[in-house]
Amino acid sequence: MSLQIVVLAAGQGKRMYSSLPKVLHRIAGKPLLGHVLDTARCLSPDQLVVVYGHGGDQVLAAFSEQQDISWAHQAEQLGTGHAVRQAMPHVQGGVTLILYGDVPLTRQETLERLLAATDHCAAIGLLTDYLPDPTGYGRIVRDGANRVVRIVEQKDATAAEQAINEINTGMMAVPTARLDAWLNELRNDNAQGEYYLTDIIALAVRDGLVVNAVQPSAHWEAEGINNKLQLAQLERIFQRNAAQDLLIAGVTLADPARIDLRGELIHGQDVSIDVNCIFEGVVELGNNVSIGAHCVLKNMKVADNVTIQPFCHLEDAQIGAGGMIGPYARLRPGAQLAENVHVGNFVEIKKSEIGIGSKVNHLTYVGDASVGAGVNVGAGTITCNYDGVNKSRTIIGDNAFIGSNTCLVAPVEVGAGATTGAGSVITKNAPAGELSISRARQSTVSGWSRPQKK
Ligand code: UD1
Ligand code: CA
Repeated sequence: MSLQIVVLAAGQGKRMYSSLPKVLHRIAGKPLLGHVLDTARCLSPDQLVVVYGHGGDQVLAAFSEQQDISWAHQAEQLGTGHAVRQAMPHVQGGVTLILYGDVPLTRQETLERLLAATDHCAAIGLLTDYLPDPTGYGRIVRDGANRVVRIVEQKDATAAEQAINEINTGMMAVPTARLDAWLNELRNDNAQGEYYLTDIIALAVRDGLVVNAVQPSAHWEAEGINNKLQLAQLERIFQRNAAQDLLIAGVTLADPARIDLRGELIHGQDVSIDVNCIFEGVVELGNNVSIGAHCVLKNMKVADNVTIQPFCHLEDAQIGAGGMIGPYARLRPGAQLAENVHVGNFVEIKKSEIGIGSKVNHLTYVGDASVGAGVNVGAGTITCNYDGVNKSRTIIGDNAFIGSNTCLVAPVEVGAGATTGAGSVITKNAPAGELSISRARQSTVSGWSRPQKK
């Protein structure tokens, strides 16, 4: 049986008070609509249609690389039924599952149960929920035999209907051919003057179909986002769930309420993460990795037995086994550290390889450099890699010793085992095994005296 998925995303989201269309606001670093589409894809649909409207260009641009989406434009927002109708030219046969671009956290398992509730195209699956306060939602009206017979919107409901606490989440799975026919029968003679998708339920019952109601395992699965408060609340729920998954998978978290995952965290055993760390993109941590408080890691590969101390900012870089990083270290894109490298406080490394066992411990900038094994880079060393136009490389051989406060004016090469004197400005290659030094000689003015206050 073929599966068609239609995602409604034409809403403006006035209450976000933002120029960004609502479905582009982010949870865990990913647009709301992206969450819905990723879950939808887990169901392997034959067709994936997004109904868009407000902020159309921005929405299309944000998903332009996702070739599996068919886009249906809804120029005017005349109601959810009208919105689904815009998608119908793109879908054919089987069952159509209707989802919402602003309801980001529905679980795949729940949607699978909703699809199963269609009984192979013989019935409608309707996702409902029971809420202590159902205000604002469409209410599920059942008959004496407890069968779902229709949905009544809050604004059209009688006082008795308003007392019903079973609500329509909006999500439903409907035989496609039937849906098409019912959508054409919808009228907008209701309190809001809209074409309500919800009216198809009464039409289905009229035509003898059964409506099977299914509930999500948690309320948040069906919660939509209309304002920044709801956005923040669902972000917390997402993060709490992600932290719980990490704990269950064996990661030690100092506080599951103080970690933020905005991508994928792949990890080995005995990983421990202190408070307030943020993980973005794809971060891979090996076995026995310890991450101190307040670190931001984005697209990182971290091998086994690495210690990252607090307040490090690490992006698009690799740390070899046994590395010691931080506190206050910054690895920028292209930093590749071999095994047992130490990078200390206020050190920035960009687009550079650092060889096995080398140490760059204090107040240093290494950019566009190739540093060998066993090198000691003294405090305050700077690779002067940029002349305002060109970037040039610095090459440092194995076991070199770079004295404190050395400026290495690239392009320049320091040979294996070479030493540079503290405070040197190295503009010419420093030969292997030799001391190169370039600084004014110290002199003493004897008998000089400091001015005295009168
Ligand atoms: C809808 C349901 C209601 C349900 C509630 C759950 C209808 C008539 N009512 O009400 O039973 O309890 O959702 O939140 O369906 N949209 C479009 N185009 C439109 C109208 C809406 O794309 O013309 C999209 C919106 O962007 C939004 C979703 O559909 O994502 C729901 O629309 P909204 O106007 O919020 O529906 P409700 O009145 O809340
Ligand atoms: Ca709504």
